[in-house]
Amino acid sequence: MIPASLERLLYLVSAALFIVGLKRLQSPATARQGNAISGLGMLIAIVVTVLGLEILSPAVLGAGLLVGSAVGWWMARSVQMTSMPQMVALLNGFGGAASLLVGGAEFLKSELRGETIPVDTGITIQLSLLIGAVTLTGSLIAWAKLQEVMTGKPITYPGQKLLNALLFLAVIVLSAYQIMTPEAHLWPFYAVCGISLLLGVLLVIPIGGADMPVVISLLNSYSGIAGAMTGFVIQNDVLIISGALVGSSGIILSQIMCKAMNRSLANVLFGAFGGGTATGTKKSAAGLTVKSVTVEDAAIQLAYAQQVIIVPGYGMAVAQAQHAVRELADLIEKKGGTVRYAIHAVAGRMPGHMNVLLAEANVPYDKMFAMEDINSDFDNCDVAVVIGANDVVNPAARTDPSSPIFGMPILDVDRAKSCIVLKRSMGAGFAGIENELFYAPRTSMLFGDAKQSITKLVSEVKQL
Ligand code: TAP
Repeated sequence: MIPASLERLLYLVSAALFIVGLKRLQSPATARQGNAISGLGMLIAIVVTVLGLEILSPAVLGAGLLVGSAVGWWMARSVQMTSMPQMVALLNGFGGAASLLVGGAEFLKSELRGETIPVDTGITIQLSLLIGAVTLTGSLIAWAKLQEVMTGKPITYPGQKLLNALLFLAVIVLSAYQIMTPEAHLWPFYAVCGISLLLGVLLVIPIGGADMPVVISLLNSYSGIAGAMTGFVIQNDVLIISGALVGSSGIILSQIMCKAMNRSLANVLFGAFGGGTATGTKKSAAGLTVKSVTVEDAAIQLAYAQQVIIVPGYGMAVAQAQHAVRELADLIEKKGGTVRYAIHAVAGRMPGHMNVLLAEANVPYDKMFAMEDINSDFDNCDVAVVIGANDVVNPAARTDPSSPIFGMPILDVDRAKSCIVLKRSMGAGFAGIENELFYAPRTSMLFGDAKQSITKLVSEVKQL
């Protein structure tokens, strides 16, 4: 048993640790520490809650913590870096399920005891049910799309938005009925749960697989809000604070991603982007010529360049070329050049995708630059090396108002003295549009799988 005052103090410590941990997550250099600090906050919150409630013996609590930690450790160790969004989706789903179960249990407990639920508690219970259920099934669909268990293409049908709006309205009406009618029956409760679970599915199926990172971040925010609502239901301070932190940081991250793509959240959620239905003219490349470069010539350019900027994209992740890239950069630096990495906020398919891959290859953090910090340096750059990136370096975003990506801030690689693009073909990127960069006079294409091309470049540069 923990005295109430100590319990509240420890909750405060735990909430403070969450905030400090979140702050430390802002920089890759301190992110691991931030994770550990937040983890400690969570450990304190769990132990205090379970001991405070006296529902379990310390031995059972210890066993649960051990098993849970072992499963979490195994999941974190075994998940592929490219599968990280799926894992986050599942964890969000579990968060939503927890809110649904706790909110539901509180409701049923009061109903069974014949107690009247006060209106404010009733509202937070209904919100826990709605948001928790939508988060659960929405996250499972996001997981299934990314895992390719189901099609990643948007699933659309006539009247889709109207149906979703009607179902949402039905949940609101049923919830209001439940809250306002003390002698309410159980059927509205089950109906709210059922319709909310269905809504989670219906809201996520029209969203294309490649937009899932934004959806996952949004669902993460929902899981936080659901948690905060549940915190109000069971009057648990740390749940309210941590839920609010997750809720707000998730929505901020979703906004950052949308801004970096120059799309509104509404466009991501309702635009069915990535289904081959993107509007806007696809610029024709007819009449333009492409200049390809041999590995030998590209190696000579790189070996004698003073300023090199590497721009990684989704293709580098697919090819798993990060270690070879690091090796190439080391060789260029040995020859007297300076190598830096320019990272676009939405390069790849998840937030921080490129930073994580490069960090895995031990690229120092001070060599990775965000777009706004390095863009002006392309004017003085001898060679810009674009590795499996496409949309994030497409000048149409600056020049073509009819392009679907018009207005998206891009990395200005076309301003470098020379630009070498590594990709397998003239194929489009996520946005499905032509890229005039590939036809620009200063650009040369090095065709092939990024890892194979870089490995060949490494052996060529070694011989120079
Ligand atoms: P993309 O524009 O998707 O282009 C990737 C390029 O990589 C493709 O053109 C492909 O060309 C090439 N590629 C694929 N496999 C390769 C391999 N093994 N070796 C070499 N090249 C390979 O990538 P990006 O520039 O990183 O842009 C990301 C896109 O995803 C943006 O449109 C962004 O809005 C969107 N998006 C990002 C996020 C986040 S959070 N990052 C979330 C949602 C959407 P080939 O087929 O010719 O090789």
